Amino acid sequence: MVSYKELGLVNTKEMFAKAVKGGYAIPAFNFNTMEQMQAIVQAAVETKSPVIMQVSKGARNYANATILRYMAQGAVEYAKELGCPNPQIVLHLDHGDTFELCKDCIDMGFSSVMIDGSSLPYEENIALAKKVVDYAHKYDVTVEAELGVLAGVEDEVSSAVSHYTKPEEVIDFSQRTGCDSLAISIGTSHGAYKFTPAQCTRDPKTGKLVPPPLAFDILHEIEKKLPGFPIVLHGSSSVPQDEVDTINKYGGKLPDAVGIPEEQLREASKSAVCKINIDSDSRLAMTAAIRKYLAENPSHFDPRQYLKPARENMKKMYIHKIVNVLGSNEKF
Ligand code: G3H
Ligand code: 13P
Ligand code: ZN
Repeated sequence: MVSYKELGLVNTKEMFAKAVKGGYAIPAFNFNTMEQMQAIVQAAVETKSPVIMQVSKGARNYANATILRYMAQGAVEYAKELGCPNPQIVLHLDHGDTFELCKDCIDMGFSSVMIDGSSLPYEENIALAKKVVDYAHKYDVTVEAELGVLAGVEDEVSSAVSHYTKPEEVIDFSQRTGCDSLAISIGTSHGAYKFTPAQCTRDPKTGKLVPPPLAFDILHEIEKKLPGFPIVLHGSSSVPQDEVDTINKYGGKLPDAVGIPEEQLREASKSAVCKINIDSDSRLAMTAAIRKYLAENPSHFDPRQYLKPARENMKKMYIHKIVNVLGSNEKF
């Protein structure tokens, strides 16, 4: 058993309380590779932003659970080396689907876990979340649970349809589970294809898809029922069109990829939404930079040559989100 406190990590408690009060949101960036980790830490340190580094089941399968844990520990030390004596870094399990997986992460030094029972019947979701909360709280680890189902397709996280969170259930759910934050469904979804073209309108000037707005009425109802309670939005990549265009220009094929407009995420950040999950935008930034570099430098084959611009492009994106969308900069 390793406590996250020994690793210099923090849980989400104080971070979320400050974010809700201050009207901003904490970025929750997924990472699978060293370059993503470096870019996240550099961006957080340069902007003085707290940050949640999250690991999915898929990331554990890809990179190895132990390696990712040590990378997060390395992230804390790297942040100190970059001039931040007390970095505010959370190591979070994203979409944990069993008690055993959550326990394993808690035992190996995670400071926060998500138990995603959102596809289960209501009572089973509560029972599973409560079991995780009871274990996690013994070690001062915070727990995110989810109510409502997101649409979209992603490696390990998929659902064909979206079921918005029912505001009438949130008080009962949060009280009976004891969770520290609640992920809700108000129209976001995972991946780079958040809406079908049929769900969107087209901007007559650019020809680009304009998605339908998020269900802010549901968010506000939830806020009224649970004043000050930390709310989480998954599936919040914006799918920047310039990155999609670069990918398509250099041999990729991402027709009609569409995300959540940043103005809406900016608005959500000012509410009780205090954690915003972003993964796909990092994948797009990395892929766009690599495709461009390799197309322009066909004789290069040293991975450092193309991973460097990829890392720089991700860092630029992370800084943009922190400063211009979530407003989590200059917080310590
Ligand atoms: O919400 C899901 C995250 O984007 C993680 O995706 O399961 O492919 O690692 P992944
Ligand atoms: P995106 O696919 O929109 O980046 O969402 C990521 C996410 O919700 C991770 O849990
Ligand atoms: Zn998610």
